[in-house]
Amino acid sequence: MRRKIVAGNWKMNTTKVDGVELAKQVAEASAEVPAEVGLVVAPPFTHLCAVGKALAGSKVELSAQNCADHTSGAYTGEVSVDMIKAVGCGWTILGHSERREYYGETDEKLVEKTKLALAAGLGVILCVGEKLEQREAGKHFDVCAEQVKNVLYHFSAEDMKNIVIAYEPVWAIGTGKTATSEQAQEIHAFIRNVVAEKFGAEVAEDMSILYGGSCKPSNAKELFAQKDIDGGLIGGAALKASDFIEIAKSF
Ligand code: 13P
Repeated sequence: MRRKIVAGNWKMNTTKVDGVELAKQVAEASAEVPAEVGLVVAPPFTHLCAVGKALAGSKVELSAQNCADHTSGAYTGEVSVDMIKAVGCGWTILGHSERREYYGETDEKLVEKTKLALAAGLGVILCVGEKLEQREAGKHFDVCAEQVKNVLYHFSAEDMKNIVIAYEPVWAIGTGKTATSEQAQEIHAFIRNVVAEKFGAEVAEDMSILYGGSCKPSNAKELFAQKDIDGGLIGGAALKASDFIEIAKSF
C-alpha cells in the first residue's frame, strides 16, 4: 500500500549536539503525528549514530543523505551502505539535485548506488526534478521522465517496493518559491505514469511520490491534499522540530 511519508533532509546543517537536540524534539512530538504518516530524518553522516540513539523508541526512522557507489575499500572520504545500515539507518536519499549539480552525480552512478542500497536492505528516496531553465523551456516532463527511466528502469517491480521518488523542482529548493499544488500534482501524476509504463498500474499506485522544494507548514496542507502527492522531502523547515511536525500533521 502507498505510504504517506514526511522526510527531513538536514543537508549540511547542525553539529552533533544541535542534531541530537533536534532529533529529541522531533521524536517527542512525533506522537502527535497520525500513525499512518511515516517520519524520516536524514542528518549528516557524522551524527547518524547519535541521532539514531535520540530517536530510539519513537516512530521516526533514520536516513543517510547519500552513499558510496562501492561496497568497501580504497575510496577516501566515502561512506558505504553497510556502514549506513550498521548505525541504524533504514533509508538513504539518492540523487539529490545538490549532489547532481555540485558533485557530478550521474544517473549511471545512481543505478549503482541504488543497487547497493537495496542489497543492503535500505530503502531509497530517489530525487528527481528539473531546473528553472528546463521548466521555462517546457522540458520538465522530459527531464523528470528521463531521470526516472535512467535509474528505476534498471530495477524490478519487487525492488520498487523499497523505493520512494521525491520530485524536487530545483527552482523551488531553498528559494521560498513553491510549486503550486496544481504544478506539483500534474508532474507527480506524470511520474506515476512513467512508473506504470514499465512496472504496471499496481506498482505505480503503491509508489510513494514526495514533493520537495520550500515545503512549509503554510503550504503543506494544500500540497498533500493532491491525489498523487504522498508527502514531502523537507529541507529548511525540517531544521525546526515544530515546523517539521506541523508539516507531518498536514494530511
Ligand atoms: P527546502 O525545503 O529548503 O526548499 O529544501 C528542499 C530539499 O532540497 C529537500 O531535499
